[in-house]
Amino acid sequence: MQKKCIILASGNGSNALNLIHEFHTQGKAAFDKINISAVVANVENAPVIDKVRLAAPDIPVFFLPYASVSERECFENELENIIRKYSINYIILAGFMKILSKEFVSKFPYKIINIHPSLLPAFKGRDAIKKAFEYGVKYTGVTVHYVTPEIDAGPIIYQEVVKIEEYDTAESLETKIHKTEHKIYPVALEKILGAN
Ligand code: GAR
Repeated sequence: MQKKCIILASGNGSNALNLIHEFHTQGKAAFDKINISAVVANVENAPVIDKVRLAAPDIPVFFLPYASVSERECFENELENIIRKYSINYIILAGFMKILSKEFVSKFPYKIINIHPSLLPAFKGRDAIKKAFEYGVKYTGVTVHYVTPEIDAGPIIYQEVVKIEEYDTAESLETKIHKTEHKIYPVALEKILGAN
């Protein structure tokens, strides 16, 4: 059965674009099993919006405002409408920087997947790359995990280690982490969504 996915993103959108490239534009074998049906951005004018429109004009892109907690209920209601309209099976977070409510997350057990730029459970939350660099760990990495009501604590699907070399800077580490993200997110999704 084909799995219909919606991508949620907040900013630059390199992961969203990479997934679209892998599963939509490029038309890989997994294309039959994984369909990117819509993209939602919660930040007005986030670069991801124009990037997706340009790269894949056939994928609908929605802007649903969610900056402060007061907007969350409205955001989640609208999101649920889109999920129903497009018969979405999986919610893929790709640089989505807001917290989904416990109520919302509980409605979609094992159907919301996130990528986080550290080896969870280390360095949860925002600025994980910077936190790892400043802490001085020698190894960090990337985690793909299911989203549960507790932040960055859901069951781990896939992880890859990134070594921090002596010569690395915060910037070079960020580049390495993004490169690893772009490599493993499609693989992890193919493993989960392409399985049955
Ligand atoms: C990525 O590094 C992603 O792992 C991180 O935001 C970045 C988004 O980059 N997500 C989190 O920190 C979630 N807690 P992108 O917009 O270029 O994909």
